[in-house]
Amino acid sequence: MASTYLMIKPEVVEAGLQGQIIDFILKNRWTIRRMKMFRFNDAQAAEFYDIHKDKPFFADLMKYIVSGNVIGLELEKDGDVIALTRELVGATNPADARPGTIRYMFGTSLQANAVHASDAPESAEKELAIVFPED
Ligand code: CMP
Repeated sequence: MASTYLMIKPEVVEAGLQGQIIDFILKNRWTIRRMKMFRFNDAQAAEFYDIHKDKPFFADLMKYIVSGNVIGLELEKDGDVIALTRELVGATNPADARPGTIRYMFGTSLQANAVHASDAPESAEKELAIVFPED
């Protein structure tokens, strides 16, 4: 079964709403293979988001993503896991996300969009290796 990476962002953990997102993921019949709460240091955050390093929002993104604890999850499901997570998570901007997606329900702004999800198998592999280096 293919796996991918999903991450619950700091503002959700700060608000204590992470349980609702985990419950929603399980109700959508994903298997959670690994899960951990952690806080990025600056170097890890820069490596994790290095594809955005030349974007105008990169500095804000760095500040935000190290601002508190996040929860990293390795998710498994039969089928095209990248397409399936996109359906589960919704558009990057919560204002464009369809009802019934995580970002529609929990996202509050383009930056505080509740979750990150890998956008390709290669990013999933890279992100999982950063977050779960021990295994
Ligand atoms: P994420 O899927 O984690 O990938 C990069 C993140 O940068 C994105 O979600 C948003 O939280 C944040 N971001 C902030 N501004 C923008 C923007 N203009 N376009 C895309 N992502 C942005």
